[in-house]
Amino acid sequence: MTADAGPRAARLPGVPPEPGVAKPDPILVAEGVTRTFGGLHAVQVSRLEVQRGAITALIGPNGAGKTTLFNLLTGFDRADSGSWSFEGQPLAGLPAYRIVRAAGARTMAVRDIMNPNGTRFPHLYPSERRQAILPAAEP
Ligand SMILES: Nc1ncnc2c1ncn2[C@@H]1O[C@H](COP(=O)(O)OP(=O)(O)OP(=O)(O)O)[C@@H](O)[C@H]1O
Ligand SMILES: [Mg+2]
Repeated sequence: MTADAGPRAARLPGVPPEPGVAKPDPILVAEGVTRTFGGLHAVQVSRLEVQRGAITALIGPNGAGKTTLFNLLTGFDRADSGSWSFEGQPLAGLPAYRIVRAAGARTMAVRDIMNPNGTRFPHLYPSERRQAILPAAEP
């Protein structure tokens, strides 16, 4: 990541825009989370902190391990190692139904974008969907 992380970085003053950096008020903290499939190291997360109230995205190329990490943190899969906590409550090793009670639900991919009037947009390409929801999403 470059030093210029954009205007939203200003919401965390003093926090360098680097992976795994400590946040002032993290709601989720993960440490040393790994998952291998045979010889494939699908997830190797040294440290991850998600700041309370900050819209946070996990990005990476296809196969980087994003879905696997979400599966681990939400109890849909078992990590080989690591620990993580939500609001200070350790969640590693808990089944999904207990994580839901402790930290909230995980949602799967959303296929349909809804109009404000509750009807679905017709089938759109992702770039068109973005244009369709921007007027409603941005103040
Ligand atoms: N159940 C599994 N068994 C074996 N390999 C798996 C399994 N699940 C994921 N993988 C492998 O782990 C790696 C990470 O996959 P993952 O689906 O987490 O990536 P991703 O970042 O979500 O990718 P995408 O952007 O395509 O959704 C890939 O190489 C994938 O083939
Ligand atoms: Mg994925």
